[in-house]
Amino acid sequence: MFTMIKIFKTGVLLFSFLSFVSCSDEVIEPLEKDEIYNLSFPSYFPEMTFDTSGNPITKNGVELGRKLFYEGRLSRNNTISCGFCHIQENAFTHHGHTVSHGVDDRIGIRNAPPIQNMAFLKRYMWDGVIHNLNEQPIIPITNEDEMDSSMPEVISKLSSDSKYKKLFKEAYGDENITGERVLKALSQFMITMISADSKYDRVKLGKENFLSDEAQGMNLFQQKCSSCHSGALFTDESFRNTGMYYNTQFKDAGRYRVTLDQNDWMKFRVPTLRNVEYTAPYMHDGRFYTLEAVLNFYSDNVEDNPNLDPQLKQNGHIGIAMNTQEKQFIIAFLKTLSDKNFISNPKFAE
Ligand code: HEC
Ligand code: HEC
Repeated sequence: MFTMIKIFKTGVLLFSFLSFVSCSDEVIEPLEKDEIYNLSFPSYFPEMTFDTSGNPITKNGVELGRKLFYEGRLSRNNTISCGFCHIQENAFTHHGHTVSHGVDDRIGIRNAPPIQNMAFLKRYMWDGVIHNLNEQPIIPITNEDEMDSSMPEVISKLSSDSKYKKLFKEAYGDENITGERVLKALSQFMITMISADSKYDRVKLGKENFLSDEAQGMNLFQQKCSSCHSGALFTDESFRNTGMYYNTQFKDAGRYRVTLDQNDWMKFRVPTLRNVEYTAPYMHDGRFYTLEAVLNFYSDNVEDNPNLDPQLKQNGHIGIAMNTQEKQFIIAFLKTLSDKNFISNPKFAE
C-alpha cells in the first residue's frame, strides 16, 4: 500500500476562479491510508500537463469524482449530470445532440467534446478559455443552459446526504464538503480517463498490423491532416480557421470570443481524433453527422476567408484535395483510433 507523502502543506495552487466559490488556500491532504491511483499510458504520449502535486490522484478521490460526475444534483433541478452530456459509449460526448441540451432542455451553442486524455491537454474547450482542468466544471455547473446551479447550492445539497459525507471523508480525511473538493474530485476522475488502447496503439507497439487500406489511409493522413491533427493525441492544440461558415444561429466565432482579436475570428481548437468513430456529430456546432461529410467538407466546401489556415489554401487550391477512394482509406485509418475498451470500461461507468 502506498502512503501519500504530505507535500502540499504550503504552496497549494491558488485558483483565481475558485477564490469566490470556496476558500482557495484549503490544504487538501488525502487520508494516510488512501492509495495513490496508478495512471498508465504509453511512452509515446506527451508529458502529463495536469499538476498532481496540487491535486493528487487517489483511489478514493477518483471514486468520489465518479459519483459526482453522474450526480444530477449538480444541476438546479437535479436532472442533469455531467454524464448526461458526456456519455461513455460515445467517448464521453453526446451522439444525439449537435449542440448541448441542459436543464429544461435549454440549448447551448456548442457540441460537447469527448472527455479522454484530459491529463495531457494544455487548454480546454473549443476556444481554449480554460487552462486548468480543476476549474473547468465551474462552467457547466453555473451555465444557465447547462446545469444552471451554483457551488453553494451544490455544496448544500451534497452536505445533506450522508453517503457523500462518507465519500468526502474517505477521499479527503474529513466530512467537510467544499467547492474546491468537489472540483478536484471531478478532475481526478477525468484524469483517469485515458484512451490509449486502439488498434493504432497496438500497431505502434508492434502487437498488430494494419490492413492495407488502413495503412494507405495512414499515409494519406500524414500528408493531408497530421499538420494539425498531430502526435499521439491527434491534435497540436492550436486554434485554426478551417473555412467553415459562421453559424448565425449560435453566433460562435470561436477563439475570438476569448481574445476579441479579429485574427482569431472563427478559429477553433484542433480536436483530437481518437475515438472519432464514436463521437458524431462533428465540429464545434455538430454540423456534420458522418466522417464522409467531414471529408467532403475538406475537399469541396472549405470557404476562403482572410483567416483561412494556410494549410487549406496551398498553391491557390482551397481545401484539401482528395478523391473518393482516398477518403475511404482515410476513414479506414480513422477507425483504427477507436478504443473499445475505453468506451466499455466499467471503471468509467455510472
Ligand atoms: C448540458 C451539457 C453539458 C453538461 C451537463 C456538462 N458538459 Fe462538459 N461540455 C459540454 C460542452 C458543450 C462543452 C464544450 C464547451 C465549449 O467549448 O465552450 C463541454 C466541455 C467540457 C470539457 C472540456 C473538454 C475539452 O476537450 O476541452 C470538460 C473537461 C467537461 N466538459 C467536463 C464536464 C464536467 C466535469 C461536467 C459536470 C460538472 C460537465 N462537463 C457537464 C457540455 C456539457
Ligand atoms: C489546418 C488544420 C487542419 C487540417 C489540415 C485538418 N484539420 Fe481536421 N480539424 C481542424 C479543426 C480546427 C477542427 C475543428 C473545426 C471546428 O469545429 O470549427 C477540425 C475538425 C475535424 C474533425 C471533427 C472532429 C470532431 O470531434 O468534431 C475531423 C473528423 C477532422 N477534423 C478530420 C480531419 C482529417 C481527416 C483531415 C485531413 C484530410 C483534417 N482533419 C485536416 C483542423 C485541421
